Amino acid sequence: MLITGGKVYTKNGFKPLDIRTKDGKIEALAKRLSAEEGEEVFDALGKTILPGAVDVHTHFDLDVGFAHANDDFYTGTVAAACGGTTTIVDHPGFGPDGCGLMHQIDLYHTLAEGKAVIDYGFHGVLQRVDDGILNELEKLKEHGISSVKIYMTYSGKLSDDEILRVLERARALGMLVAVHCENNDIVEHLKTEYIKQGKTGPEYHPLSRPPMAEAEAVNRVLSLGRTAGDAPLYLVHVSTGLSLEYIDFFRRGGYENFFVESCPQYLFLDETLYKKPDGLKYILSPPLRAKENNNLLMQALRLGEIDTLGTDHCPFNYAHDKQFGKDNFTKCPNGMPGVETRYPLLISLALEGKIDFNTVVKTCAENPAKLFGLFPQKGRIAEGADADLVVVDESARGKIAHKNLHENCDYTPFEAMGTRGEIAAVFSRGEKIVENNQFVGEKGRGQYIKRSTFQPL
Ligand code: URP
Ligand code: ZN
Ligand code: ZN
Repeated sequence: MLITGGKVYTKNGFKPLDIRTKDGKIEALAKRLSAEEGEEVFDALGKTILPGAVDVHTHFDLDVGFAHANDDFYTGTVAAACGGTTTIVDHPGFGPDGCGLMHQIDLYHTLAEGKAVIDYGFHGVLQRVDDGILNELEKLKEHGISSVKIYMTYSGKLSDDEILRVLERARALGMLVAVHCENNDIVEHLKTEYIKQGKTGPEYHPLSRPPMAEAEAVNRVLSLGRTAGDAPLYLVHVSTGLSLEYIDFFRRGGYENFFVESCPQYLFLDETLYKKPDGLKYILSPPLRAKENNNLLMQALRLGEIDTLGTDHCPFNYAHDKQFGKDNFTKCPNGMPGVETRYPLLISLALEGKIDFNTVVKTCAENPAKLFGLFPQKGRIAEGADADLVVVDESARGKIAHKNLHENCDYTPFEAMGTRGEIAAVFSRGEKIVENNQFVGEKGRGQYIKRSTFQPL
């Protein structure tokens, strides 16, 4: 395949380059390449070519007992691909009580195999800690899983002592620990109080999980990380300016080995949505925040203080699943869709001049690839890398509309947001898998990726 005439994002900025792909890799990048006999040519004249995006925070097929996330590894990865994401690393849900670390990984292999249409990996998930579990971390790593997720709230939450033990072992193994930061006691206390007072509507969801609940947990886990010898940490879905202050404090104090993720919903949406009649659509944790946080996060993104943007894609249908919370917000399954809209929303910000393309590519592709052991195979356009490419028509103008998306959910939280630029085509390992907003590849073509040790930024 020869892709000609595009303005290509490289480590030295945008360059007019032709791209030759062979056996799934970028074989050559040069000013002018002539088509060889029988070679397929894709004309990208006037288009921009970015690296395929990497989303290290999805929840495909998530089972929360009373509800099941609507996208499986087929529909979810088709949606990801149509939104320019060519690699995902999924967060498996908790397994049965007492299960070992490979339980969920084995299960998720069966969920993804034969279905995923883009390349994929899994994080490990820890829901309890003992010597057996800690010893299993090495096995995970051998299986190509170089990161694990821990929670400071929800049923599988870990105590501070357990977190310390995990951080010490993970540090010794060179594994990255991703953390959902919320103070569980604050959340449980406030939820109980609001429900007792008959305050059951979705507008009480953000009040029951205030910025302080997240920021306290961020401060605590970073303190634990320092105690464990500056263990490598990755803070998922940071949503508040208050957390950014703690993050800044630890960075100024010399803790270099931790990394910060936020998500588009925390940049673009705010807590006023909970007061709308369809407020249940926006129930996720941490919740949407007061508008000033959007601006603080956007500023942090511009300054390079946010390392990655994940989507936390976790779609529950509004018509059915979200209605579990109609008389009591605490019964609503947490999460919202977003795997298809991240790159388009961020590309749009760049074309509006609000952030630069470097920030888009770093946070959506290069940095997640580095941190989660996918680089240099993924996250860049360079000879030898996988030919995962997104062709963008910068001149297009549009609006996010649920009807045009492939996410298997009955709404998008970003409905009617204006966008600049449009994804014209997507290549995964040199194969054109999306054109004209249609998935044109084969079900199950995605490959499991054995990830290597994380690479600091
Ligand atoms: O509300 C959310 N974010 N649901 C997905 C699970 C998690 O906490 O990441
Ligand atoms: Zn989370
Ligand atoms: Zn999540």
